[in-house]
Amino acid sequence: MRTQVGIVGAGPAGLVLARLLHRAGIDAVVLERRSRSYVESRVRAGVLEHGTAQLLDELGVGQRMRREGMEHRGIELRFGGAGHRIDLAALTGKTITVYGQQEVVKDLIAARLADDLPLHFEAEVTGVDGTVLEYRQNGVRHRLECDFVAGCDGSHGVARMALPDGALRTAERVHPYAWLGILARSPAAAEELVYAYHERGFALHSMRTPDITRLYLQVPPGTELADWPDARIWDELRTRLDLPLQEGEILERGVTAMRSFAVEPMRHDKLFLAGDAAHIVPPTGAKGMNLAVADVRVLAEALAAHYRDHTDELLDSYSATCLRRVWQVQRFSNWMTTMLHRHDGDDEFGHRVQLAELEYVTRSTAAATTLAENYVGLPR
Ligand code: FAD
Ligand code: DHB
Repeated sequence: MRTQVGIVGAGPAGLVLARLLHRAGIDAVVLERRSRSYVESRVRAGVLEHGTAQLLDELGVGQRMRREGMEHRGIELRFGGAGHRIDLAALTGKTITVYGQQEVVKDLIAARLADDLPLHFEAEVTGVDGTVLEYRQNGVRHRLECDFVAGCDGSHGVARMALPDGALRTAERVHPYAWLGILARSPAAAEELVYAYHERGFALHSMRTPDITRLYLQVPPGTELADWPDARIWDELRTRLDLPLQEGEILERGVTAMRSFAVEPMRHDKLFLAGDAAHIVPPTGAKGMNLAVADVRVLAEALAAHYRDHTDELLDSYSATCLRRVWQVQRFSNWMTTMLHRHDGDDEFGHRVQLAELEYVTRSTAAATTLAENYVGLPR
């Protein structure tokens, strides 16, 4: 089998890329290791930047997002016993959309299948040999020959691993905390997202629908879910968030480690890395999925220029173009993370400086604008 672009992975990066390429008249085959139901039910991120939501509209997959997603004009930072609103819309003229990553993925899968375009589930890529993808589906081995390969296969994917030793430089930081996240059948306890810095640790109140909340707690790395029965989770959330939370059935729960990671360059010969395959940000800035989408926008334009105009300038600058944004987002995610988490062993001085920083960010229009313009998404 042959195609122009072989895409490894049907997460946000792979699926948005496939849609952008189709719009540009470029053939692609998407290979996804997991089943359709697995990728459609994997609970992850929930905040779409202004530009991500606009792109989904432009791609013709934004109808359900506009109907069921929630446009938010602000967020709240809560510390020292009080809430402080950051008015994103007033500070930037832009808003965010709260809509689950798996809903975005569902909409993109439905659109690709409706167009009768190749997207194979339970098709695990087992080897990347130059521009040939080897994969296994239903126990049968296949080969897909491509002009280009897009490694959109997440942080543990094969594409990055297939590169020769020394091809990439890596920058990494493991953060000394993790998040315990739950999805619960309980009404939102606030109209907007609430990021709380509490002396017992960080907590976040988010939502998926008016009746489903998404809540997170800072916990030590290596935390076992078995040590967190429902009552303990709700008590801790109530203490840290200081919101009138209504307990409900916990539909999903998990512990996520926190890591910052980026490779350079994001290209090796005809293989292009995009999204989590190239970089991970800690989730505090709500940036992972948005950054994945930003990468593939750059990649799709570069591939379109290659096929349409026969110029490779944009392909050659792909890595540098993406990395400028990647490092802005790393900076922002790192800043939000250190500002909002409790650092083990920190003394009174550290705690007071953190509170002063939060006070500054919420009181100074200049500082609040800095947060807001990053949160809604920096311009391209
Ligand atoms: P992914 O979504 O990881 O997609 C990669 C796809 O490639 C997967 O479907 C995978 O099955 C497939 N794949 C892997 N290997 C192969 C192979 N060999 N062959 C074929 N297919 C393969 N971000 C936030 O902003 N907020 C959050 O709360 C948040 N929570 C997260 C929780 C978890 C547990 C994780 C892992 C991430 C979370 N993120 C969060 C980050 C965000 O979800 C990611 O940044 C986003 O999914 C990146 O999209 P992607 O398409 O690059 O990668
Ligand atoms: C969500 C996740 C985040 O990491 C974040 O910063 C905000 C919201 C969420 O899952 O809704």
